[in-house]
Amino acid sequence: MSSLANKRVLLGVSGGIAAYKAAELVRLLRAAGAEVQVVMTRGATRFITPLTLQALSGRPVREALFDEAAEAGGMDHISLARWADVLLVAPATADLLARLAQGRADDLLTTLCLASRAPLLLAPAMNVAMWDHPATRANVALLESRGVALLGPAEGELACGEAGAGRMLEPAELLAALEGRFRRGSLDGCRVLVTAGPTREPLDPVRYLGNRSSGRMGYAVAEAAALAGARVTLVSGPVALACPPGVERVVVETAAEMHAAVMARAGDCDIFIAAAAVADYRPQAAAAQKIKKSAPRLTLDLVRNPDILADVARLPRPPFTVGFAAETDDLERHARAKRMAKGVDMIAANRVGPGLGFDTEDNELLLIREGGSERLPRAPKTRLARQLIESIAAAWRARREPAATGDDHAQGTA
Ligand code: C5P
Repeated sequence: MSSLANKRVLLGVSGGIAAYKAAELVRLLRAAGAEVQVVMTRGATRFITPLTLQALSGRPVREALFDEAAEAGGMDHISLARWADVLLVAPATADLLARLAQGRADDLLTTLCLASRAPLLLAPAMNVAMWDHPATRANVALLESRGVALLGPAEGELACGEAGAGRMLEPAELLAALEGRFRRGSLDGCRVLVTAGPTREPLDPVRYLGNRSSGRMGYAVAEAAALAGARVTLVSGPVALACPPGVERVVVETAAEMHAAVMARAGDCDIFIAAAAVADYRPQAAAAQKIKKSAPRLTLDLVRNPDILADVARLPRPPFTVGFAAETDDLERHARAKRMAKGVDMIAANRVGPGLGFDTEDNELLLIREGGSERLPRAPKTRLARQLIESIAAAWRARREPAATGDDHAQGTA
């Protein structure tokens, strides 16, 4: 049975040539057992008739914001927004992305996107120059930072005769992506907070102390957690990576900002994974003016930054905490010591040195938890992240449901 069986899909269709593919998408969604309510923009009705989509979905297609009959008949725009388990807009035009990025509500579809708490997925379709335009890039980045998931676009021949990125994903691909959202994962319903990337500690208005972290491991972990069904917030230092689909991203710069962003959210999460390379020290005070190279020597006064991971582990009701340890030698001993020193549930340790660790595609991990360890052999960071998330999910469940692991002592305790 499809994971979409009995799910309520609000399918938005905006005005692009790919709107004709919405007919096939509705048919596939219905065949998978989903209820489908189609909402079209006025532009979309120029490309495909509401009657076609009404016949395929088995429900009257909605378009007007001020539809008195519908508003009075129990399917007003707020009820419709609450009805949906998921919102998918396919195709999503450049104009629709811009209006959503601005939070506008100037037609029924944008109003529903604003009024609904259900996940929003967008399948963009447009000319390659429009997709590449800085305005569209900025709109996409903003939407992704709010947790909106973008599906595609694909590269290929475009209706305008050009070739490049801008083609809407095929209906079958969109169906598979939607099914993936509803498949039960090992972290279903779990809230996960992840830190990633480096921090930058300002020296003066133009300089900072930083490190080589690319953020790839943390981003891969955030993506793997989202794929496993978790609601993921990623607190990220400055990196050159796109926000993973379905993940909410909070961008920070300094360790102090990262600490504040994490502590404000740590009480509301089930699992905290600290993958950021946080600067251990910061300049005592950043110079207000650019430091001049007049003196032959310069001494910097550095002070300790807060340890974010240790502070989360010290909370009265801490989430399941996972830290990373990058070591050049005696990996297991140092990782065990770090786990105890920081009071965390699990340490994912990796050796750093030539070709391993920072700024590389591959990594290998040794997972240390209370009473056990597990080795995850060298693999691309994305695969390693999926394995790490499965191990974390199993350990988290075992802690939450001690009876299931056969720990009789914990049974019946509060
Ligand atoms: O002590 P060390 O820096 O080796 O510990 C690494 C682990 O602690 C990583 O998980 C890192 O994200 C986390 N950490 C932190 N805040 C710091 C320093 C490290 O959360 N100030």
